[in-house]
Amino acid sequence: MENLFKQIKEKVEKELKEINISDDFEKLEKKYFGRKGEFTLAIKNLKDLAEEKRPVIGKLANDVKKEIEELFENAKSKLNPVANKAKEFLFGFDPTLQGDKKELGHLHPCTIVLNDVVDVMNSMGFMVLDGPELESEYYNFESLNIPKTHPAREMQDTYFIKTDKNFKYKEKLVLRTQTSALQVRTIEQFGAPLRAIFPGRCFRNEATDASHDNTFYQIEGLMIDRNISIANLVSIMNSILNQIFKRDVKTRLRPGYFPFVEPGFELDINCLICGGKGCSVCGDGWLELMPCGLVHPKVLEYGGLDPKEWNGFAFGIGFTRLVMMLYGINDIRLLQSGDLRFIKQF
Ligand code: DAH
Repeated sequence: MENLFKQIKEKVEKELKEINISDDFEKLEKKYFGRKGEFTLAIKNLKDLAEEKRPVIGKLANDVKKEIEELFENAKSKLNPVANKAKEFLFGFDPTLQGDKKELGHLHPCTIVLNDVVDVMNSMGFMVLDGPELESEYYNFESLNIPKTHPAREMQDTYFIKTDKNFKYKEKLVLRTQTSALQVRTIEQFGAPLRAIFPGRCFRNEATDASHDNTFYQIEGLMIDRNISIANLVSIMNSILNQIFKRDVKTRLRPGYFPFVEPGFELDINCLICGGKGCSVCGDGWLELMPCGLVHPKVLEYGGLDPKEWNGFAFGIGFTRLVMMLYGINDIRLLQSGDLRFIKQF
């Protein structure tokens, strides 16, 4: 009897070495400790022993049982993790269980409208260009006929950037205040004739309210050719707006001053939020949406073109305002708020 328990232990030890997935442990446990398991039967036989031998063998049986349990524990902790995972995947995967719902994102309203504008402009032969948000003072101001002393710099509360004295460019850098900063860069690069738009982010040190934010988007348009007229400018701008709003929108053109155009205009759009009655976004029912004009001869010269041969028009769409008009958004700050209650509506 003594030997029987020891033999069982040796057998278990040997068999444990040959298995490495959890199901096989269960089989082995059953083989020895199940209802008809070898160990269980051996214990049952204890009752046939002479009475004086029972406590001794009984204790031995108990000790062996503990040792076997330890063997199992040790072997289980060394289980082959890969084989086990594979098995768990194949047989432990329940396809009827509810999974984690993955929420799909979607385009930001500004991106949706920008894609529309790009389509419209492409169809009229305008290419789409990108440029630096950290811009030199030269492209942001000087090349646009806004010299250092010009009061027009006051119109745009600029973020000037401090640079280290060892910085390789001696130019002062600014967070661009307008996408117009790309006008001369583009003329320099592509020459004339030229049709391009430059959508992008601009920055101004603004006190924010429902219609002003320190970060906003503009879309600049530039067309250079021979004999460009104000009629060309107006018809292109109305065409853009009608295609974007998908209806005839009411606009008005009034004189405006910008140093880089001559003559300069403001194209206002009748407010679609209040229907022209006046509200927190537009004020008096009209919203400045597209300042524009014929490109100033100085700007052409800065770009290396002869103003006697070439002329053109430029416009700057207040793109963030356009998005607000299109969707009836009454506070500009919502657009960059990251507030999901707002953004999920698009
Ligand atoms: N860059 C001007 C601004 O941010 C807007 C502007 C005015 C752009 C007239 C133009 C233009 O292209 O012709 O205030």
